[in-house]
Amino acid sequence: MPLLIKNGEIVNADSRERADIYCEGETITRIGQGLEAPPGTQVVDASGKYVFPGFIDPHVHITLPFMGTSAKDTYETGSRAALIGGTTTLIEMCCPSRTDDTLAGFEHWLAQAQGRSACDFTFHMGVTRFDAATESQLREIVRRGISSFKIFLAYKGALGIDDGELYRTLMLARELGVIVTAHCENETLIAERSKELLAAGVTGPEGHHESRPPAVEAEGVHHLMTFAELTGAHTYIVHLSCKRALEEALAGRRRGVNVAVETLIQYLVLDKTWAERPGFEGAKYVMSPPLRDAENQAVLWAGLRDGTIQTVATDHAPFDFEGQKRMGANDFTKIPNGIPSLEERINLLYTYGVKAGKIGLETMVNVASTQVARIFDLYPRKGVIKVGADADLVVFDPGYRGTLSAKTQHINVDYNAFEGWKVEGRPSVVTVRGEIAAKDGDFVGDPKRGRFLKRTPSRA
Ligand code: URP
Ligand code: ZN
Ligand code: ZN
Repeated sequence: MPLLIKNGEIVNADSRERADIYCEGETITRIGQGLEAPPGTQVVDASGKYVFPGFIDPHVHITLPFMGTSAKDTYETGSRAALIGGTTTLIEMCCPSRTDDTLAGFEHWLAQAQGRSACDFTFHMGVTRFDAATESQLREIVRRGISSFKIFLAYKGALGIDDGELYRTLMLARELGVIVTAHCENETLIAERSKELLAAGVTGPEGHHESRPPAVEAEGVHHLMTFAELTGAHTYIVHLSCKRALEEALAGRRRGVNVAVETLIQYLVLDKTWAERPGFEGAKYVMSPPLRDAENQAVLWAGLRDGTIQTVATDHAPFDFEGQKRMGANDFTKIPNGIPSLEERINLLYTYGVKAGKIGLETMVNVASTQVARIFDLYPRKGVIKVGADADLVVFDPGYRGTLSAKTQHINVDYNAFEGWKVEGRPSVVTVRGEIAAKDGDFVGDPKRGRFLKRTPSRA
């Protein structure tokens, strides 16, 4: 059924206009004033509301075997929660372990999503080992529609790779035109500091950030920049948390390194005191890189404003407080890392970013949709409201007032890191390729509408 969204204010990354949007099939076919609705058209009145291009989360873990357990969402839960929160496309990481077969890992992650996702999805292919067999499988995976790799400089022995593997992965990526996304922390420093802290009796969640201070992340970024400089590969730093790490990325950029930077909504609105909460509550806020001193937040917001930081993601990694986070009750190195936030990213970015005067509406669209689409070869199919683009639309009600809570969330985890936080505004209607998927906090769509988005590397 055709869809007409009337009277809304369309916000793209570089423009705003009051106009109607007509969608037929799966795409936007007309934009203009006073568009007529042919009989049988579904009409949404967006008076007093914004209309954004569907938001894209470039860094999520729906399922992730990690630290002796697994992130708890499924595509059934994660994709619906994403849509309710305004995110219409997910980029998950296929993270086979070092001993797993890479191609089998890709097929496994794809199978977990196909036929089960309500929103569109694609993957960064995790490179957790690099040898001749892996190399030919990576070539095959790129042929099957993947245009980004993911590497970990941390988590050695589990997901992390060594420097020889890093070099060869970047060389392959450059040859194929693939962008390499990287978790940047120095694993050796983390391991040594963790041992010292535990020996000194520091076992609680606060030990986590003490074990990996900003210098540990800055060293990881510097390391990646050196390898990117010498290989010419295009790189993307995931979950950058602090000023020191940003300075290393910018120094690399000044030397000509191709690097994009992602920060997370968690680093923008939470600081490390949350991980110091008593009674093991801090474990809810353990993630890597860790939450930082509050002064870093202003640097990150400024980076979004001036364009030195390209994207805002979630690194959604849902581990229950009971049963999973509690695995680290006597040893912070055993607390599964992650702060779930897939459902909240846009509401928090709007309330604590746009309404707080830290970024403008167009910047919000740019960092949470348009830039993601551009960097990851989805533009202009995704990331923009224009004729020919997929009709993934978010009609956003700025008048809504609400409170975040585990009691009302849709992700599959037993806590909400933002419990009791007020939000101003939320998605009122969310569409996936022209079909309504979510309305005012409820999923109302086709639970299997999501499609695997094949991408072609653009950096060859
Ligand atoms: O703490 C985090 N970031 N958990 C998920 C795994 C990762 O490093 O991306
Ligand atoms: Zn990571
Ligand atoms: Zn991650």
